Amino acid sequence: ASAEKGGYKHFMLKEINEEPEAIESAFVGRITNEGPILTELKEFNLEKVEKIKLVACGTSYHAGLVFKYFLEKHSNIDVEVDVASEFRYRNIHIDDKTLVIAISQSGETADTLESVRLVKSKGARVVAISNVVGSTITRESDVTILMNAGPEIGVAATKTYVNQLVVLYILGMYILKEKNMWNEELEKDFEFLKKAPEIFRKLLSDINLEEYAAYYKNYHHFMYIGRGINYPSALEGALKLKEISYINATAYPAGELKHGPIALLDPTFPVFAIAPKDRLFEKTKSNIEESKARKSRIISVTNESNKDLEGISDDIIYVPDSPEDMYPLTISPVIQLFAYLIADMRGYDPDKPRNLAKSVTVE
Ligand code: G6P
Repeated sequence: ASAEKGGYKHFMLKEINEEPEAIESAFVGRITNEGPILTELKEFNLEKVEKIKLVACGTSYHAGLVFKYFLEKHSNIDVEVDVASEFRYRNIHIDDKTLVIAISQSGETADTLESVRLVKSKGARVVAISNVVGSTITRESDVTILMNAGPEIGVAATKTYVNQLVVLYILGMYILKEKNMWNEELEKDFEFLKKAPEIFRKLLSDINLEEYAAYYKNYHHFMYIGRGINYPSALEGALKLKEISYINATAYPAGELKHGPIALLDPTFPVFAIAPKDRLFEKTKSNIEESKARKSRIISVTNESNKDLEGISDDIIYVPDSPEDMYPLTISPVIQLFAYLIADMRGYDPDKPRNLAKSVTVE
């Protein structure tokens, strides 16, 4: 059993450590000297796309949210994301300028598949993003972009989340190029993305969250906060923690704290702040200070050259500096490992969380 886990204690830990190679596999044929290319979409006439609707569940939904913040920032395309169990019962408007992107690691999630069928019946063009060759979603969509992460055994998505982000960044960049919306910031994002495998390798070998996990594992509640493109990381961090450690973790956009959730905060209720130095950092920092004033313990993740949280955040985890669009990538292994270690230290098997299935094929 330990051999198939490559010497790691759990598949989840093995799969987190496979992220650098997973990213490299997602790059093949797509990261080129001419920029981002998706031959899958060659015939797809992306120039006329003005609206994009993404549909997914769970972790895949969070990847969709990152795409929304990324693409909207660099274009005039309207991007909307919804969870499939809602999407399939809404009245979704489709016209010839609308593109639907369905994200499903397994390609078998019932609600996501029904959503694809619904919009196809309305004449939509559907791009699927999946990790499983020949899965139902790949057969029912017009085109599939495979995420090529390799098989994932752990129920909690890890390397497939990273690869969803990678594929969605490439897709976003490709659409922006096709629509003549390429810009200098995207050029920097693209240069960073190319280096992601080596950056992940270093990050995974340097990072040590054991002490934090040992300390925070004893709490019963957690509040994850973030803003902008880092808000989905808060959602994903909280989801990971509740999925495998059974700690009650909630995520909010940091600016929404004062509209209710701040009432929960006290010394028994720590805050996990996703706070890299981006254009919204000062706002997030104020929200951290507000939480501190309620005596919450604060653990933050930020970028290594940013020292502005010292003396404010009780604990700080550093990730490499990157263009602000790209922080969801490097923050992923941090929130995954944090949840993994806490689950393990609390005596739970992170590979087989109670009540959860790897793929939910019934409604
Ligand atoms: C289940 C899994 C999650 C996953 C979600 C969507 O709930 O436990 O980890 O994110 O399904 O799965 P999909 O295969 O559609 O991406």
